[in-house]
Amino acid sequence: MRKKIIAGNWKMNLTPDQASTLVRETWEEIQGIDGVDVVVCPPFICIPTVREILDEYSINMHLGAQNMHWEESGAYTGEISPVMLKFYGVSHVIIGHSERRQYFGETDQAVNRKVLSALSHDLTPIMCVGESLKERDDGHTKDVVVAQVKRGLFEVMKDVVRRVVIAYEPIWAIGTGKAASAEDAQEVASLIREVLSEIYDEDTSREIRIQYGGSVSPENISDFMSMPDIDGALVGGASIKSESYATLVRLA
Ligand code: 13P
Repeated sequence: MRKKIIAGNWKMNLTPDQASTLVRETWEEIQGIDGVDVVVCPPFICIPTVREILDEYSINMHLGAQNMHWEESGAYTGEISPVMLKFYGVSHVIIGHSERRQYFGETDQAVNRKVLSALSHDLTPIMCVGESLKERDDGHTKDVVVAQVKRGLFEVMKDVVRRVVIAYEPIWAIGTGKAASAEDAQEVASLIREVLSEIYDEDTSREIRIQYGGSVSPENISDFMSMPDIDGALVGGASIKSESYATLVRLA
């Protein structure tokens, strides 16, 4: 049985004081809910504050980051290392989000290095894959996603790959209010699982969690969660309001 995982990607939103309020208010609404991993991924600068709040109120949420560098330290101006994340008890890290690929030139090779580094530092990578609107219209969704999965997981060994979470986020569905249909998302999730079977084996593939992301809301989450290969959601907009995020967790 794969445990459900709902992760909130706050992107470049909220200051530390707002982050603290959001986490406390969300917790008030979801306390006592079991059986789903809840992750919050604030901007780097909010991580120390969120850590304090999680500890102070014994909040059972996982702390995630939105990106990291693959090296532990060095001359990489503006970057944050896995060791720094670990210092604050970060357990999850989003890797290869389409916004990073699109606006910051992140390649599949960089994604792969980050995935390997995260795993070696005992961080759970949430590796994002997904096609653009043009790729979808040209009928390339499957090729694009398969290539991203294969390249992102290059040289990731079977004994650790179970810890990876794969987030299928079609780019055209992100922040547009136009989510993929649950059936279309399921088709891609099932394809990802086939690829994982090919690279590793069926048992391993069955253990890896796959999320859907892109305009997930309280209105559509149940459709996604009822699909056999979708184990959770990576949520942007609806994760920065306590009411909607709490509803998503409850419905999951
Ligand atoms: P939205 O939920 O705002 O569409 O964002 C999805 C996303 O990019 C999560 O990583």
